[in-house]
Amino acid sequence: MRLLVAGTLCAAVFLYGSAAHATVKKRVDCKVDKCVALTFDDGPSVHTGRLLDLLEKHGARATFFVTGQNTRGNHRLLRRMVQEGHEIGTHTQNHPDLTRLSATRVKKELHGPIPDIEAAGARVTLARPPYGATNAKVRGVMREMGLVQVLWDVDPQDWLVRDARRVAGRILKQTGRGEVVLAHDIHKTTVDAMPKVIKALQKRGYRLVTVSELRGLVPPLPAPES
Ligand code: NI
Repeated sequence: MRLLVAGTLCAAVFLYGSAAHATVKKRVDCKVDKCVALTFDDGPSVHTGRLLDLLEKHGARATFFVTGQNTRGNHRLLRRMVQEGHEIGTHTQNHPDLTRLSATRVKKELHGPIPDIEAAGARVTLARPPYGATNAKVRGVMREMGLVQVLWDVDPQDWLVRDARRVAGRILKQTGRGEVVLAHDIHKTTVDAMPKVIKALQKRGYRLVTVSELRGLVPPLPAPES
């Protein structure tokens, strides 16, 4: 929240002080702008740093649904995600099918990576159930924990295809305005597909934003530098 307030103040100073500068960053408002949310599950991994470099280079934001198994020892990557404006949600500790667990264990699984994410400076408000497997019990636990469930609109099956060109082709063929794209930053081929995906979506006029920005869960943020 502090960052948002600082950003607002900055923008206000720019507006007030230097209309001639034209350096005021346009704010992304997905009610007005064409937005897409790229999401990356199951990491962080050895490929995540390269993905963050790409996102930064192209002025794109993304959402990471991390597992507790992989947040351990990856504090620098988590911190970088937060600092560079990305969003992080829980994808459980051990990636189980939550529908098969008791409510107590569902809660424990969802909580898994949250301390590591919070240690990186972010508050966790989003959850993605592994395999998209969910039911009333799972949703109830999420609600109780203050988590919003996020599934997806576009699934390129990048975990199966493992071919960067085909992954990019599937995403670009299927993705439309306001949609959430599922991908996995644990696969090299998926990260290899991203330069093409990001450039093509931006060329079509899409702003690549976080899920909370897409859904209007946070106030509009300044467009990332591109
Ligand atoms: Ni997963």
